[in-house]
Amino acid sequence: MINLDDFNELVLARRSMRSFLSTPVPDEDLKRIFETAKFAPSNCNTQPWQVCVVSGETGTKVQQALLASTGVGKFQLDFPFDDSVYNGEYKERQVGAAKAYLSAASIAREDTTGRNGFMKSNLSFYDAPHAAFIFMPQWCGVREASDVGMYAQNLLLAMRAHNVGSCPQTILGFNADAVRSVLNVPSNMKLLFGISFGYFDPQHPLNTVRTERASIEDSVSFYS
Ligand SMILES: Cc1cc2nc3c(=O)[nH]c(=O)nc-3n(C[C@H](O)[C@H](O)[C@H](O)COP(=O)(O)O)c2cc1C
Repeated sequence: MINLDDFNELVLARRSMRSFLSTPVPDEDLKRIFETAKFAPSNCNTQPWQVCVVSGETGTKVQQALLASTGVGKFQLDFPFDDSVYNGEYKERQVGAAKAYLSAASIAREDTTGRNGFMKSNLSFYDAPHAAFIFMPQWCGVREASDVGMYAQNLLLAMRAHNVGSCPQTILGFNADAVRSVLNVPSNMKLLFGISFGYFDPQHPLNTVRTERASIEDSVSFYS
């Protein structure tokens, strides 16, 4: 029988970590994490995720490729990202989260240099020793993206259960061609996002940020 308190604790213990230790996660644990994650549900059991896990030299090469291309403003995303569509409470949540992260990083809003540095650390996996790049085949649409989201949440929880912290990052897909080129991934596999992961210092200010959530009264309606 699954212990409900343990499950709730696991879900609440997961949060996005943005500072990591360099100690790599042992191969055996990596395999167990991905073994568990694969049991995610998907439309018609199609399992439309393809994952590239990078560590060591390959991880550094991917970071360099991302920094080189994204640093000069040359974005090439497989799927558009446009935060100007956020409005009302959605915009407020985005601003609230950004304020919390910048404050934890001791970066003032008007500090352009500091913000650029934070963007670079985003692209450098926040110094995590590993990153997982999540691709799906070109034919996939919004339904398959929802499958991949379920897989990704399994992955984040499985990582946390192994005491491994993580940060899902759209920004790691900001130059999909550069990532594909380093990893020899064919152009018909499309990059949704990446996940930086590794062991973490729970006391680090960037790892103590707890973003707010709307109450369930605002997001769930019960009918009977
Ligand atoms: C698909 C996805 C993409 C994200 N992209 C980024 C990113 O590029 N950089 C980043 O620092 N955080 C990113 N995040 C983390 C969110 O900011 C974070 O999940 C949100 O603020 C809620 O906080 P929590 O994960 O700590 O609960 C992303 C999260 C998701 C699910």
